[in-house]
Amino acid sequence: MLRAQQMSTDSLLPQIDREKLPKHIAIIMDGNGRWAKKRALPRLVGHEYGVKSVRTVAETAARLGVKYLTLYTFSTENWNRPQLEVKAIMALLVRTIRKEVATLQKNNIRLRTIGNIEALPKDAYNELQEAMALTANNDSMDLVLALNYSARWDIVQATKQIAESVQNGSIKVEDINEKTISESLNTGALPELDLLIRTSGEFRISNFMLWEMAYGEFYFTDIYWPEFDQEAFYRAIVDYQKRERRFGKTSDQIKP
Ligand code: IPE
Ligand code: IPE
Ligand code: MG
Repeated sequence: MLRAQQMSTDSLLPQIDREKLPKHIAIIMDGNGRWAKKRALPRLVGHEYGVKSVRTVAETAARLGVKYLTLYTFSTENWNRPQLEVKAIMALLVRTIRKEVATLQKNNIRLRTIGNIEALPKDAYNELQEAMALTANNDSMDLVLALNYSARWDIVQATKQIAESVQNGSIKVEDINEKTISESLNTGALPELDLLIRTSGEFRISNFMLWEMAYGEFYFTDIYWPEFDQEAFYRAIVDYQKRERRFGKTSDQIKP
């Protein structure tokens, strides 16, 4: 790390209140392609450098005490990219999981997924299953990869589950409430989303966690994902901690 960068990272850390950490952070990791293009490199090199940011952010989050980190890794819509890029991303996924299981173990991180992983290429699916089983008892942080995930897909599959339960008589229509829906989503076992970060200067949600972000705080940065480092992550948390989350109430009501 450069010295100037180290200094600003060091000055940011004391600004973070460990008692008020977002429990669940989600990141739309965007800008790998543009980062590579800027350097006249192939898009895949951008994805490869993006993996470095994943490692940095996961380690930093776990060390800080964040309990859940969800990373939007491959969307349902990403299948529409050129097939060569899709193939390369899948191969990178397999290689990365194989290589990084040791990092997860070292940092006591549990790997989980949301999304339709059964429809991923077999080797990616198998690699994920193995890594999830290996890390199942780790308890410093849950690292949740959103893979072949989209929020609308999740809402459709949740709706089908609920409809089946009504059909077979295990629940009544009048008993369906917000909890029924939350629990039927792939994110059902995760706590409420506190902070959503999107990199690369785009201001959109791209079919991510539509239900879950009802009261999530948004943080947008221009930084391309391969350049998103510890300092950028600390900055997002410092910004989050300055906000007042009112959940519909007035400011006076929530002041202690
Ligand atoms: C994010 O970077 C990675 C994935 C969506 C898999 P992009 O590949 O979307 O990068 P840009 O948006 O083209 O710069
Ligand atoms: C969103 O990024 C999906 C992931 C980060 C995996 P995209 O780059 O695919 O989003 P759009 O298509 O520009 O909205
Ligand atoms: Mg993009």
